[in-house]
Amino acid sequence: MKLTIGSDHGAVELKETVKAVLAEYPDIEVNDVGTFGTESVDYPDIAEKVCADVVNGRSERGIVLCGTGIGISIAANKIKGIRCALCNDVYSAKKCREHNNANVLAMGGRVLGRGPAEEIVRAWLTTEFEGGRHQRRLDKITALENK
Ligand code: RB5
Repeated sequence: MKLTIGSDHGAVELKETVKAVLAEYPDIEVNDVGTFGTESVDYPDIAEKVCADVVNGRSERGIVLCGTGIGISIAANKIKGIRCALCNDVYSAKKCREHNNANVLAMGGRVLGRGPAEEIVRAWLTTEFEGGRHQRRLDKITALENK
């Protein structure tokens, strides 16, 4: 699976933590779109880069990170075809895959500790969408996007 990851300056350390988790999965190919230093950047620009890969099919999934995870998740969800879930716990990470087929995961570098972030990523990567009644609801989200 191809996966694109990006963060603003508020989560560069978390991005490295997440990349180390992704390296546990030999079938995951990572595209890191930055940022790579502590200089301030604008999270909507990072969301746009990550989500472009997902909507144009270059990547199946994306991970977006900022200080809280809030701004970058809001920005990601403005992009047609993106279902971005901000997760601060493993339960949400599983449910956003099972019920929402979240194709982008958001987390906050100033919110989560290393251990919880690692477990959230593993849960999100390994949980499948359940389909069924949940697909009907996703179809309604798509209809909202197209209004
Ligand atoms: C950047 O200072 C900060 O606002 C950003 O990382 C994020 O927390 C916004 O939601």
